[in-house]
Amino acid sequence: DVGKSTNIRWVETMVDREDKERLLGQRGCVLWFTGLSGSGKSTVACTLEHMLHERGHFTALLDGDNVRHGLNKDLGFSAEDRAENIRRIGEVAKLFADAGSVTMTSFISPYRVDRDAVRERCRQGEFLEVFMDIPIELCEQRDPKGLYKKARAGLIKNFTGIDDPYEAPLSPEVVVKPYDEEGNVRSPHDMALQVLTALEE
Ligand code: PPS
Repeated sequence: DVGKSTNIRWVETMVDREDKERLLGQRGCVLWFTGLSGSGKSTVACTLEHMLHERGHFTALLDGDNVRHGLNKDLGFSAEDRAENIRRIGEVAKLFADAGSVTMTSFISPYRVDRDAVRERCRQGEFLEVFMDIPIELCEQRDPKGLYKKARAGLIKNFTGIDDPYEAPLSPEVVVKPYDEEGNVRSPHDMALQVLTALEE
């Protein structure tokens, strides 16, 4: 599926992924965080990246707001643009994973079909979906950027969870819940550790 590009040919490189992974002493993968705005995707992904780095791993982190400042600054929040956003991020994440990096992405990625398409593009077992299963009430209560307030006031249209859908994953590899067994709010460190443990397994 080459889209609009014609007369192109795949180039076989001389250093393959396995060579890179051997050099790095790790396997490349994609940890795909998904969840509502304010669900803690970025915080947990940042904490996890720090943990991995401290343990001597080569990592990359692609974050929604940052990527929308550069690579995807031409995209808005219509369904079409969100799909294209996720498609591009998926391709970039795959390139990083092919370079042997433990790659984390932190995007709402609200539509199941778009996330599944990225999974399909990845190798078997290299894509791990991490669902930040945080109820919207809690996200809205936190409202770190004041966006829910604006969306409720009608100042932002098509806001995920308010007037645009969020389709929760059906069988994510990791489900992160906001409270521990005693009902206390979990720390980002605790949540990141859960993802790290799942990754190691
Ligand atoms: S998506 O749906 O995956 O393409 O979105 P993403 O690239 O992750 O960008 C989400 C951040 O953009 C801000 N923002 C919005 N979010 C949802 N809906 C609308 N309409 C919207 N407009 C702006 C918001 O800050 C999101 O950041 P996070 O970190 O998720 O809170």
